[in-house]
Amino acid sequence: MVKLGVNVDHVANIRQARKSVEPDPVYAAMLAELAGADGITVHLRHDRRHIQDDDLRLLRKQVRTKLNLEMAADDEMCAIAASVAPDMITLVPERPEEITTEGGLDVIGQQKIIRKTIDKLAPLGIKIGIFIDPDKNQAQAAQDIGVKHIEIHTGIYAKSKGEHQQAELHKIIKVAELADSHGLEVNAGHDLTYYNVLPIAEIPQISELNIGHNIIARAVLVGMEQAVLQMLKVIQRAGS
Ligand code: PXP
Repeated sequence: MVKLGVNVDHVANIRQARKSVEPDPVYAAMLAELAGADGITVHLRHDRRHIQDDDLRLLRKQVRTKLNLEMAADDEMCAIAASVAPDMITLVPERPEEITTEGGLDVIGQQKIIRKTIDKLAPLGIKIGIFIDPDKNQAQAAQDIGVKHIEIHTGIYAKSKGEHQQAELHKIIKVAELADSHGLEVNAGHDLTYYNVLPIAEIPQISELNIGHNIIARAVLVGMEQAVLQMLKVIQRAGS
């Protein structure tokens, strides 16, 4: 059964809009876990636009399932990750002007810094993976560099329609098959919604989906637990 990691960054976005103390992403994470989420994901960005260092430390103490830290591969984030020791890290590209992560990390072009990050953090027992586009060469490069998991970028799939969407789905399936055949754990995420998630959840090689914005958007209206339960209900249709 495909697992659900809930990204709570957007709860922090609402708080940071007023530089207030509410809503608290740690509370949101607890409610997500109570509703059945298999993991909690946060992205600590250089500009700290949503998640703050203290959130990360509190989450480390409170999360009972699995804490996945999305981060850029650089010295600042490496030092924070080493002190917090999340269960797992997903390396992502980061551009200061972007609204959200725009695509996968260029594993081939960024080999040196990725390797340095893995060498520092893997000995601490942290499982390290890379967010990649659905591209076989990137998946191969991720395997060569020695990570344990990849997360396939579903953003283009989610934003396209018709034949273009089917072609993108096909690419995701092929990369999932390749990575799985090489022993990598395969996750997927970005721009997934209650309406577009099922074909991705149905890919047998995919073990976990990371979903943030759409769950938090629904939680604003129906509450965090209901929003998580409703997403679990959709993705669990994949197994039936
Ligand atoms: N996976 C990665 C690597 C991401 O950077 C994000 C956004 O932080 C997500 C998944 C979740 O994307 P969304 O908020 O669109 O569900």
